[in-house]
Formats: sequence, structure tokens, C-alpha cells
Amino acid sequence: MPAAGLPSGGVSRTLYVLPTGHLASLLENPPPSTFLFMSSAGATLPPAIKMRPSDVVASFLLLLASIAAAHGALQAGFYKGKCDSHDVEALIQSVVRSQFRRDPTLAPALMRMQFHDCFVRVRNIVINAETPASRPPFIPPGSACFGNLVLFSLLTIYGCMSGLPQGCDASILLDGNSSEKTAGPNQSVRGYGFIDQVKTVLESLCPGVVSCADIIVAATRDVIAMVGGPKYAVQMGRRDGRISRSGDVNLPGPSISVAQASVVFRGKGLMTSDMVVLLGGHTIGVTHCSFVTGRIYNFQGSGSADPTMDPALVSQLQSRCPQNAAVDATVNLDQNPRSANVVDNSFYQQIARKRGILQIDQSLALHRTTRQTVALLANGTGFPAQFGAAMVKLGNIQVLTGRQGEIRESCRSVN
Ligand code: HEM
Repeated sequence: MPAAGLPSGGVSRTLYVLPTGHLASLLENPPPSTFLFMSSAGATLPPAIKMRPSDVVASFLLLLASIAAAHGALQAGFYKGKCDSHDVEALIQSVVRSQFRRDPTLAPALMRMQFHDCFVRVRNIVINAETPASRPPFIPPGSACFGNLVLFSLLTIYGCMSGLPQGCDASILLDGNSSEKTAGPNQSVRGYGFIDQVKTVLESLCPGVVSCADIIVAATRDVIAMVGGPKYAVQMGRRDGRISRSGDVNLPGPSISVAQASVVFRGKGLMTSDMVVLLGGHTIGVTHCSFVTGRIYNFQGSGSADPTMDPALVSQLQSRCPQNAAVDATVNLDQNPRSANVVDNSFYQQIARKRGILQIDQSLALHRTTRQTVALLANGTGFPAQFGAAMVKLGNIQVLTGRQGEIRESCRSVN
């Protein structure tokens, strides 16, 4: 919208105020008519010319078209016809299938990778701890920048312009001395080599078409179905981010409280109920003993085990995870041995029986805001469908679309 005419260097300029989120797209893809844009944070683009009202309307329409094209949207069947006659999702699935046959732990590896890729820079979203847990915060979907409009800063402008990682943009895959994958919580994330394999196949068939961000989400969807989980549809069209910094990783730790974890999830637009369902991802995979020893030997400095853990489980874990052991062994996150590698609701049945491994997992079954959902999931049949829907929500967090970001040639480096 027109805001004011400002004299600058003796030339009168027409000023338009735009949200910073649009500035990024415009800088990369300026609309045909040149006039001065000023972001809400004060960045300006030269040069400016004076325009008639009809030009202003026409330019505004062009501007809207440009914004829409730059932002795009996720779509079902996005790659149809974009990779010659190849079915991109079927190709991804076939690589998943062959790798999964060799290493079934690909399932927990990819699930965790998707979570860690999408949960970056949570702190830059305004989190209102008073917002009722049942109401999600307003973070418009499909935009990696809008969520930050409330916090104008140079970093925000720079971030929006350069596709700074905020959501599911495959920034976790970028190599570098201090990229996200070097951050503490990401050091045990696995599956990078697998993503490279998928990317190599796709690049050989249709270079520069399929994003690494879409590969993560599609492959995770496929591998979840291979371990008994739901078959859910995911929309495609994500683009890859260009920045990956370990300092932006602020994933919750295993001792986080339910209330704190809810705030973190709300910061990504997810409700507490989504969080309870997504933590059901701990129905497969393992944790290192180092995340458990605090609970079984000296819980919160008490000198004894966490009283919320089944004493029989405490003994089992103590023999599996000896104090001061030279090797950091692993234990299943789902303590039902028959279903430790199956995506089902047994995780909730275990935590309902005080057999949660991580403190946050056990807390879900005890906290007043989550225990009812846990009971419903443990005793009902709703988990698979709810988990599929929650994974879709997770994969749609603050994605780059349209002309934002890029399609990387290699998932490990920017173009
Ligand atoms: C408050 C949130 C969460 C916390 C604090 C948390 C914490 C952890 C920790 C500490 C581990 C063990 C890592 C290791 O020992 O190397 C782990 C593993 C895992 N997490 Fe989470 N997690 C959270 C949410 C999620 C979500 C939302 C998902 C999936 C949707 C997920 C999926 C997994 C999987 C599958 C593993 C096993 C990985 C493997 O076996 O390689 N987690 N998590």
C-alpha cells in the first residue's frame, strides 16, 4: 500500500511498505516495474520513479502475482510431469525399500531426522506461554518468513532474504564446520548417506528438480509405513534452505517438562495434542544410556532412581547402562520387546505403566494436560491415523516454496 513520498537525493520517491517476508522474494525476483520498496524494518531498494495511480494499481497487481509465485504452495502430485515420465515419489520409495531391507533402523533414523530438520530457530517465533494449549499460535502456513514478522530485526530481514532455516528446508543435511548437523542434539542423527543415495538417483534422471527437503519428508513417510505405521499422503513442493548454523538448533532435551515442551511445540505452530502424538515417534528406535542414567542412579540429586519409573525397569536399565561405563550403550525407547520396532500405540501403553525411558516420555503420562490423551491413545485405535496427520503437520512447518530457497544439486552443500 502507498505510504508516503520521501525526498531522497533531490528525487521524490513513492514509498511502499511491505512485510519483510515479501522482501526476500522481491529481491530475488523483482517485479517488472521498479519502484521503491521499503520493508517494515527499513531496508530499501533503489531506484524509485513517480507513478500515476493506474500504474500503481497495475504494479500492485503484478506485485501480488510475484508474491504468490514466490511463495507457491505445497501440492499433492507436485512432481507429476516434472521429471520426464518418472514417478518421483515411486522412485524415492524404491530406494527406501531397498535400503530398509539392508538396515531396518532406517525407520527411526529418518523419523528423527525429519523432526530435527523442522525444529530450528524456535526461539525466533513469539511464544505466548499464556496461550491455551488447545489453541495453536498464529503462524501462517507456507511461509518461512511470516512467522518472524513480529520480530523485526536485521537478522530477520537477512534470514528471509537468504532462506535462513526455520522449518523443513533440509538445512540439517548441509555439511560445514558449524552447520546444524554438528550441534549436540544432531550428532546422533543418522541417515545422511541414504538421502545422498536418493538424491543421486533423482539428479541422474532429472537434475535440479526434486528438493532435499521433499526427499526427507517422502522417504520418512514411506519408511514409517514399512514398520507398521500409517500410510499417509504428503504434499510436495518444498525448497531447500541455504543456511545451516549449529547455533540455530534449539531442540528440547529429554528432561524438558511437559509445560516447557508444549511452549516449544507451540512455537512451531503445533498444539500440545500434536506434541503428545508426535512423541509417539518414540514407539521405535533407541536412546543412548547417557540420556537415561540420570533417571536410574541419581534422579535430580536424590541419590536414587526416578520414583515415576517402574522399579523392575530401573533394575533392567541399571544392568544395561552401568554407571561410568566406557561405552554409551543403547536401549529401546519402546520397552515392549515385541513392538520396539513397530509404529503402534504400545509406547503409550508402556508409559501408562511407568515404563517410559526418557523423562519427557514418562511425564506425558503423568501431566494433567496430557495424561488423558495418553490414556486414549494407549487404549484406543486412533494412534495410526493421528500420527500420520501429525507427521504431515510436522513436515509442513515453515517450508520454503515457489521461488524461495533453491533446489540443491547435492543435499550436503548449497548450489
Ligand atoms: C520433546 C521432544 C523430544 C525430545 C526431548 C526427544 C528426545 C530424544 C532423545 C534424547 C533421543 C535419543 C537420542 C540418542 O540417544 O541418540 C531420541 C530419539 C528418537 N526420537 Fe525423539 N525427542 C523428541 C521428539 C521426537 C519427535 C517429535 C519424534 C518424531 C516425530 C522423535 C523421534 C525419535 C526417534 C525415532 C528416535 C530414535 C532414533 C534412533 O533410533 O536413531 N522424537 N529423541
